[in-house]
Amino acid sequence: MTISLDGEWDFQLLSNPSEEPSKRWQSIPVPGLWTMVNGDQPFGDKPIYTNVQMPFPDLPPNVPSENPTGIYQRDFLVPTSWEGKRVVLSLGGFESVAIISINGNEVGVAKDSRLASEFDITNYLRASSNRIQIKVVKWSDATFIEDQDQWWHGGITRSVKLYATENVFIERFYTTTSLEKDNKTGTLSIRAHINSIKETDIANYKLRIKVAGVKGASKSISVIRKNAPQWTEKSAAEQAAGDDYFQGNYWQGNMSKTKYEAFLATEPIIPGPVEVTFKVPNIQPWSAESPKLYDLEIELVDPTGQVVEVTSQKIGFRRIEVIGNQFLVNGQPIIFYGINRHDFHPVTGRVLDRDYMRQDLLELKRWNFNAVRTSHYPNDPAFLDLCDELGFYVIGEANIESHAFQNTLCNDQAYLNAWVDRVARMIQRDIHHPSVVMWSLGNESGAGLNHRAAAAYARNFDSSRPLHYEGAIRGNWTINHDLTDVVCPMYPSISAIISYAKSKKADRPLIMCEYSHAMGNSNGTISEYWEAIHSLDGLQGGFIWEMWDHGLTQTLEDGTVRSAYGGDYGETKHDGNFVCDGMFFANRTPKPALQEFRQIASPLEFKAKNAKTGRFEIFNKQFFVDTRGFKVRYEITLNGKVVIASDLKLPNLKPRTKATIQIPSKILKSGSGAGERFINFTVEHSLSTPWAHTGTEIATYQFALPSKPLPKPKSAKLRDDLVTQDGLIKFPSALVAPQLTLWRAPTDNDLIGHISEKWDEWGLRELVKTNCQITRRSSNIKIVNTWKTGSGIKIKHEQLIESVQDGLKVSETVQLPKELSDIARIGTNFELAGELNQYTYFGTGPFETMPDRAIGKIHRWSSTVSDQYVPYVKPQENGGHVGVRWFTLSNQTNHGIYLQLDKPRMVTVTPFRSTELADATHDVFLKPSGNTIVTIDAIQRGVGTASCGPDTLPKYKIKPGTYKWSWTLINF
Ligand code: GAL
Ligand code: MG
Repeated sequence: MTISLDGEWDFQLLSNPSEEPSKRWQSIPVPGLWTMVNGDQPFGDKPIYTNVQMPFPDLPPNVPSENPTGIYQRDFLVPTSWEGKRVVLSLGGFESVAIISINGNEVGVAKDSRLASEFDITNYLRASSNRIQIKVVKWSDATFIEDQDQWWHGGITRSVKLYATENVFIERFYTTTSLEKDNKTGTLSIRAHINSIKETDIANYKLRIKVAGVKGASKSISVIRKNAPQWTEKSAAEQAAGDDYFQGNYWQGNMSKTKYEAFLATEPIIPGPVEVTFKVPNIQPWSAESPKLYDLEIELVDPTGQVVEVTSQKIGFRRIEVIGNQFLVNGQPIIFYGINRHDFHPVTGRVLDRDYMRQDLLELKRWNFNAVRTSHYPNDPAFLDLCDELGFYVIGEANIESHAFQNTLCNDQAYLNAWVDRVARMIQRDIHHPSVVMWSLGNESGAGLNHRAAAAYARNFDSSRPLHYEGAIRGNWTINHDLTDVVCPMYPSISAIISYAKSKKADRPLIMCEYSHAMGNSNGTISEYWEAIHSLDGLQGGFIWEMWDHGLTQTLEDGTVRSAYGGDYGETKHDGNFVCDGMFFANRTPKPALQEFRQIASPLEFKAKNAKTGRFEIFNKQFFVDTRGFKVRYEITLNGKVVIASDLKLPNLKPRTKATIQIPSKILKSGSGAGERFINFTVEHSLSTPWAHTGTEIATYQFALPSKPLPKPKSAKLRDDLVTQDGLIKFPSALVAPQLTLWRAPTDNDLIGHISEKWDEWGLRELVKTNCQITRRSSNIKIVNTWKTGSGIKIKHEQLIESVQDGLKVSETVQLPKELSDIARIGTNFELAGELNQYTYFGTGPFETMPDRAIGKIHRWSSTVSDQYVPYVKPQENGGHVGVRWFTLSNQTNHGIYLQLDKPRMVTVTPFRSTELADATHDVFLKPSGNTIVTIDAIQRGVGTASCGPDTLPKYKIKPGTYKWSWTLINF
């Protein structure tokens, strides 16, 4: 019996909570933020983005007197069938304080933006029309503990509804499930509280509980009400039992049960709480891989046997344990292929419906994620229902982040209740969900007394789940373990997690609550993290930061629509584009880095035992299910083209087992011509699932096979028009001659990680040629260039040019001086006519790869030049591919150039110059140069994750020294 109050409400925005509302009403959708009505700010108050810093200077608990306050108002009728019943108002979410009035009477005040607040409004209602007013105040004392790294908004974010119960009702109930060691017997504990209004007697009411479809899984528990006997009425035995208990005569706890019960008989019992625990035989366990759910049916029965309330809850049986350095689900040391997810929507801010949340989760499934941290607050309850159903391991996080005051508020008595309340109410709400495997005490709030109180509550109320809290172990992973059962650092270095795993002090599992900051062109070295995790006990995965770029859709005056970040709404105190750091763009399209992750998290893994003889090993990485859900196709390619393809007979592998397969030698030999040969195995879904239909790709494994090299271009007599008098290399389609480049458009990591600062100091962006010596010889031309950086550092660069049939070959050498200790790249850059816009390359793709994020199928890929562009919100180097062997660029009539490289190298082909990328603030402001810009890298630096976390590894940096590379260009 629920009525939704969602829809259009009357609304007005006041400048502070004491201002009197006027008679001028406008309208607003509920749920809806007044800062984001259809992506717009019709009421004037705009979104603000800050990360750590508060948006105002006041100290807690004070807030600015200018404090936007929204008055939401509407009328509603209560159905006549609700007459005489108890009516409850539920307000799903609001930022940051809500004051509720019904028919002009104040009913209550609510805080914690991310948990529903409920009010019994029975006594405030009228039979005729009722008026509800919700006054939402933007800033409050609570704001200081809701200082998460995201946009600040104002308004109502989740649904508002009414529901009715009888006068005797189930006020709350909590289910806790587990699984016995046999992995087929579940246990179910239920704690419930029956209550009443209007002093209705609840004695002899009963709660009837049943797990639907499971034999023997039903119980009935009665509400007991008992008065204590007067002391004169106690029997001698009861009296004696009481005395013994009280006087410590059984101080060792050895009082007999009969005697203890005799003592208890003298205590009164308040009616209301009921409890039962029982075994549920023959169940199938829940796991993220096999999310089996059961329906728990609950009935409240009155003394005459009438059912007065019916409710149900999905439950699942699984056992969570932390034993030594292992986090176990149903006894298995599962791996968290996790991601951090904020509630986010580019148009509504963070008003999400169930379908939208479902789409998020289906998307994550498609990329092989199996875990979500609800960073940094409880999500809508529907989100957890979906995680239960689709199969995700969830860290449920409390809505506490005092980042700007992280070491003080956690010890501030004034915030003690808020801390405990937020953790307690989250657990009470979400305890039923099998998907929730850990409780998190919040984020970035230090470690203090308030945490200890909250942890004590959590451990006592729900001993079935471990605690998670990063703040406890920040800087020292060995302390404050009363606040966390797992070591859950954020952004640790790879060497740190390896050293932990190998240390004797590793007394608990390490699960990174955040790692691999996905800001811009990022996620470098993620493979190395996973090499460590997959090979070392006690490392059990982590949660990428984060799912979304939080770019808000903003229409500018000239009609341009951009993905807005900090500062774009005119806020002066802000943290720029740090709000855009997801694996998905704000419009939900995936970024290239997801491809690498999908491969790493593949449930099935292929390894070569001996590729040459066609022996491969397949490993089922899953912990609970066999491989019947998958099928595998394989193909052999020659010079990037498929020569033969077939289905693999995939043996059905039990969880965590391996099998060896043999590819028939006849097939293995296919493709006899020149060029590299590979065998590619593509893992696909064999069954359709809610997130993918049959045949959807899950992962691809590629192995090199014995090959014959491509023929070398034929050499030719040296032409005399290959080089200009100024020492510039010439070929027909070149508009800007090949020149040396040591720079790239800084990535977010380069900028925020202070890496490109040195490039600016050295002046690498524009090199000036200060000297050029041309030596013409009979078979080649040698050009020796001296380049000077902006700060005056000199670089020697040699180009040796030879003729080949229809083209030329250039061999280059650079002496990188020792001052240039960490540069972006060493490469050849040139510009072609823009009509050469058809690009085919043999290298990793088809998505962007980077030197330290290099997983990609080496194949022959084709696209237009403009499709190479990756629209990072703040433009930066993008669209390159590592491992390119050769490529062609051609026009509509199929004329152009073919470029063969001396060895696999990174190549970037784009309509944008790096300087243009670097100078643009937003993707939509970029204008294509009109030319096709090509960069062949002798070497490019990795991207790392230094915008928040470690830089790339030393092996992906560029050291001073001699670099040589060569390329052959053929005109066609
Ligand atoms: C973490 C924090 C996140 C986010 C991230 C950087 O420190 O927990 O909320 O700020 O860094 O994007
Ligand atoms: Mg923070």
